[in-house]
Amino acid sequence: MTSTEKTSLYTQLLEQARALVENESDPIANMANVAALIHDTFHFWWTGFYRLVGDDLVLGPFQGPIACTRIRRGRGVCGAARDRRETVVVPDVEQFPGHIACSSASRSEIVVPLFDGKGEVTGVLDIDSEHLTTFDDIDARYLEQIAALFGKD
Ligand code: SME
Repeated sequence: MTSTEKTSLYTQLLEQARALVENESDPIANMANVAALIHDTFHFWWTGFYRLVGDDLVLGPFQGPIACTRIRRGRGVCGAARDRRETVVVPDVEQFPGHIACSSASRSEIVVPLFDGKGEVTGVLDIDSEHLTTFDDIDARYLEQIAALFGKD
């Protein structure tokens, strides 16, 4: 897929995601639809959310194969995005120390943190690909705008 095609798909996706989230206040319902929307648009291997519950990231709405249910502080790519409070793009999961392999098919990954109105991390949006180097700055830029839709609770 070219950068232009990707940008065009994300532009449409972001518009759809905004419309979905605008009409519903429940974050779980919104995460469920947004995960489905991203997954259906790009056919990634796994697309989903982990929510901060207590001190762990706990599996939320997702599309794809079954996944690890609980990720402790500092663990995996999800824990890194949570701790660094920024998007983490992993071109090759085998090169990321501590990567949690929920599925052996996953080869590259992007994790985007979600923040509340006070700037506290409330969860992450995690996407896995079965191909290497799937994610770049375009994915990060648009997925951060999608993550920002969950910043109101
Ligand atoms: N690979 C992630 C764990 C979650 S699964 O990919 C769905 C990580 O290292 O945090």
